[in-house]
Amino acid sequence: MNIKSSKPQNNRMIYFDNAATTFPKPPAVIEAVVDYMTDIGANPGRAGHRLSIEAGKIVFQARKSLAKFFGVKNPMNVIFGSNATDSLNLAIKGVLSSGDHVITSSMEHNSVIRPLKRLETDGIITLTVLQGDEQGIISVSELDSAFRPDTKAVVLNHQSNVTGTVQPIKYVGEWCRSRNIIFIIDSAQSSGIIPIDIKEDNIDILCFTGHKNLYGPTGTSGMVVSDTFDIKKIKSIKEGGTGSLSDKIIQPDFLPDKFESGTLNVAGIAGLLKGIEFITGMPEGLKSVQLHKQTLQKYFIEKAAKRIPGFKSYSSVSGFGVVSFTIEGLSVSDITMRLSDDFNIMSRQGLHCAPMAHQRIGTFPEGTVRFSFSVFTTKTEVDIALEALKEISGDAK
Ligand SMILES: Cc1ncc(COP(=O)(O)O)c(C=O)c1O
Repeated sequence: MNIKSSKPQNNRMIYFDNAATTFPKPPAVIEAVVDYMTDIGANPGRAGHRLSIEAGKIVFQARKSLAKFFGVKNPMNVIFGSNATDSLNLAIKGVLSSGDHVITSSMEHNSVIRPLKRLETDGIITLTVLQGDEQGIISVSELDSAFRPDTKAVVLNHQSNVTGTVQPIKYVGEWCRSRNIIFIIDSAQSSGIIPIDIKEDNIDILCFTGHKNLYGPTGTSGMVVSDTFDIKKIKSIKEGGTGSLSDKIIQPDFLPDKFESGTLNVAGIAGLLKGIEFITGMPEGLKSVQLHKQTLQKYFIEKAAKRIPGFKSYSSVSGFGVVSFTIEGLSVSDITMRLSDDFNIMSRQGLHCAPMAHQRIGTFPEGTVRFSFSVFTTKTEVDIALEALKEISGDAK
């Protein structure tokens, strides 16, 4: 793929930590942030002056684009947050209450499992963690055996940030729908790679992050609520100023204000809007993204398995550009340190905030090295990394 990025042409740094946050960002994203900061700067929905209205228009346009992107009719069902963790905490703590049973998977990020564990430790909920197959993919038979009359919700990571494992959300959604169970999706990794339609996929609440595969700035995320979901079933976990109903000392009960207290990250949202336009404007939309990432992933794994002694990949073959690996005789931190210090290649080592996923795939507690590619990653960069790893593998004991 040859797409214009904001990466300086003379910069030989190679960035393979896109699952943490994508870098570089498309130039239009950066321009939108700067334009807002330079020419608008005002607080949306807080005043009637022109600049406040301009800021409000940007936020509304972003809501509209995101609603369309995720298959929701009402843009007000997009509730902005500061990161996926923030939106997931709202969804999980907003929906669950005393006596509820919740089903989740072994592939969850700490952004899901820690809020759930907190509720479990406080004696509010009971929790079942499904192990899934060797890739962590859960099945209907596991769901059936975990089901209880008090099961309130299934909370599921759509795409693993460790292995790239993709959960079959459509049939999990059908399973939930037929039992009147609330289906909450963590799409932090999948949004911008895998098409998601909240209605078709029977999702009640989806939490996305803006700074990964949607190519927006850090500090952006959202909780998207299905058009048919009764918002009375979600409690607010934060209250405060909304710019609406200012004469009332009680939080408004309509969307998005019920959950959006305090000034929004308008600069970030302006960038996120351009990130969505960037990703949907690819020649074949998300298909181009998938093809590019899968091609690089396959190429890297095949070449590495042939050229690097002791190389072992833990990635799902159907994943999208997330490769977790180890090299026998080397610690994962030695590998990433040498990649960074000697080859200017940025990657990540360890558990990637998903310890249960490593227990599932057998890489706990050391974890793996993770290379994660973006639409800006080139085959030449992958070739340079392969050479670097070959040299580093010479240090193996
Ligand atoms: C699957 C998954 N869920 C949640 C998160 C948390 O995202 P954020 O950093 O935006 O809170 C991440 C981040 O890596 C992730 O990979």
